[in-house]
Amino acid sequence: MKASVGTKGLIFNEPLLWEKGVDGRRGFSMPTRDVDEAPLDESIRGDGPQFPDLSEVDVVRHYTHLSQWNFGVDSGMYPLGSCTMKYNPKTNERQAALSGFTGAHPLLPDQLSQGALQLLYDLERYLAAVTGLPAVTVQPAAGSQGELTGMLVFYAYHKSKGQPRTKVLIPDTAHGTNPASAALCGFKSVAVKSNEKGILDPANISGLMDEDTAGIMVTNPNTLGLFEENIIEIAEIVHNKGGLVYADGANMNAIMGMVNMADSGVDVLHLNLHKTFSTPHGGGGPGAGPVCVTAALEKFLPVPRVVKKENEAYSLSWNHPDSVGRLHAFYGNFGILVRAYSYIRSMGAGNLKKASQLAVLNANYIKENLKDTYDLPYDRACMHECVFSDKNQNQYNITTLDIAKRLMEYGFHPPTIYFPLVVHGAIMIEPTETECKNDLDAFIAAMKAIDRETRENPELLTEAPRIPKVRRLDETLAARKPKLAG
Ligand SMILES: Cc1ncc(COP(=O)(O)O)c(C=O)c1O
Repeated sequence: MKASVGTKGLIFNEPLLWEKGVDGRRGFSMPTRDVDEAPLDESIRGDGPQFPDLSEVDVVRHYTHLSQWNFGVDSGMYPLGSCTMKYNPKTNERQAALSGFTGAHPLLPDQLSQGALQLLYDLERYLAAVTGLPAVTVQPAAGSQGELTGMLVFYAYHKSKGQPRTKVLIPDTAHGTNPASAALCGFKSVAVKSNEKGILDPANISGLMDEDTAGIMVTNPNTLGLFEENIIEIAEIVHNKGGLVYADGANMNAIMGMVNMADSGVDVLHLNLHKTFSTPHGGGGPGAGPVCVTAALEKFLPVPRVVKKENEAYSLSWNHPDSVGRLHAFYGNFGILVRAYSYIRSMGAGNLKKASQLAVLNANYIKENLKDTYDLPYDRACMHECVFSDKNQNQYNITTLDIAKRLMEYGFHPPTIYFPLVVHGAIMIEPTETECKNDLDAFIAAMKAIDRETRENPELLTEAPRIPKVRRLDETLAARKPKLAG
């Protein structure tokens, strides 16, 4: 067995024997029976699952090894642009583990679920306060499912007006889930080009918006980390043609307490609790993508809704005939919602605003310190993230991928790469507010060292990463033909 030491002092053993089962090993002792044995009809037992026999220590070591091969926000800086990989405070975990929450069965009647219902109700109120949009559902399980919910609301709204529409405007900087969500609802997406400042041009929207267009999906701040400063004018153009404005609020971490999305003309918006509100990012879930809408669109939100009338208990209400229906079992990923509630309550309104201010400050600090080293296609004040390209390093045949892989050897998770598509060889850095100045400086120093290596020792980049368990993966093959064991 070969062992090497990683940058953070972790031991990466390779190869790890994957199949560890040994017949007869046990990891669990059943308590001694204290009731009479009841005869069991063998035919209902079946053959049982084919699990390997493992001891407790086998299982613990296996999962501990896997966790050491992983890199998380608890291991170091994780500046993955557009993903807001901020630190997840451990108090959130404590609240989510309270036995009253973990033991609550989702089919309990309303009168036995008052605490859980109140938490959902209050969380919806807090998210309404953060966004300025009064009606909220916390049911969708991801940002992308929030987008789908929003597109269903667009569809239901236009249908209710007696004029279903077929198209949705989507900027060229949008996340890929935006056109996918629109397409799932049967809308054709119409790409809108951003201007030379990296934002949307009202004249452009004016030329595209017509009475067959259901509305626009705008990410604000956008994926270049730039504020869509023409949003009010754009919303007016869309509304004047009878359309709706959808805001992809995945980047809300930059503007909490500073921008009222309703005042900027937004009708529907989704948030990613696993970004802005510090809940864990799972491997594709479970997350939460609450959707916030104007009062006029509330009737279309998914059921059940949590309601509370004066002097009455909290209850789940199903009687919403215009609702787009149900998006998730029960009321969404409840454990995640408890964590977001815990985050909001422990921060308070003032600190949420401060978090956004610091997130923006940190991104601008990185931008200013690296812009003489890395090409910065849009040299303007940024919001939560800044987007460079590999243009300068390309002269030495070094690409964004090489830079990202080498960064891992300096102990950092790579930034988002090759997105947004409008920047060739994009390097999209989102430090978040939870990194201190020392860590930002260490990251900047690593990026500058990598740039020097580009000229002085390019093999260090092209052969990176040498330290992690796996080196360069064929990501397409890994997605198409995943090898899940060994
Ligand atoms: C701008 C933007 N919109 C939408 C999404 C989709 O969110 P989710 O990953 O929660 O489905 C993302 C995810 O990274 C995003 O960055």
